[in-house]
Amino acid sequence: MILVLNGPNLNLLGTREPEVYGRETLGDLETLCEAWGSELGVSVTCRQSNYEGQLLEWIHEAGGAGFTGIVINPGALTHYSYALRDAIAGQPLPVVEVHISNVDAREAFRHTSVTAAVCRGKISGLGLLGYRLAMEFLTEGR
Ligand code: DQA
Repeated sequence: MILVLNGPNLNLLGTREPEVYGRETLGDLETLCEAWGSELGVSVTCRQSNYEGQLLEWIHEAGGAGFTGIVINPGALTHYSYALRDAIAGQPLPVVEVHISNVDAREAFRHTSVTAAVCRGKISGLGLLGYRLAMEFLTEGR
């Protein structure tokens, strides 16, 4: 049972800087994740919030709720949220960080991830496929 979390501004996928993030909407992404879950034989729950505290609470609750792994695109929180880092570090589930764009090819502030070090790994720049690869790792890769 995989939890897919998307952070701030990812509700705007499809219209937000489409040259960077593509034309597929958050709804399209969540439909894809559910289809990929079916292929991988794992159930998937997708959630998005623009609120840091909401993301923290979902992470805190995930183990107790029966999830076995978390895919997270923290959006810009990636670059500065020590609270998000601590929430990931403080729970037992494997977490994979995903970025749709290649953050290392963009502005300097995006080159820092304060969360990646407490994740099992990070996938960046592979578009929506990154979510699938993260799900594959969480179901098959360990
Ligand atoms: C992002 C990259 C972040 O730098 C940015 O703030 C986002 C999206 C990505 O998916 O490429 O909101 O996480």
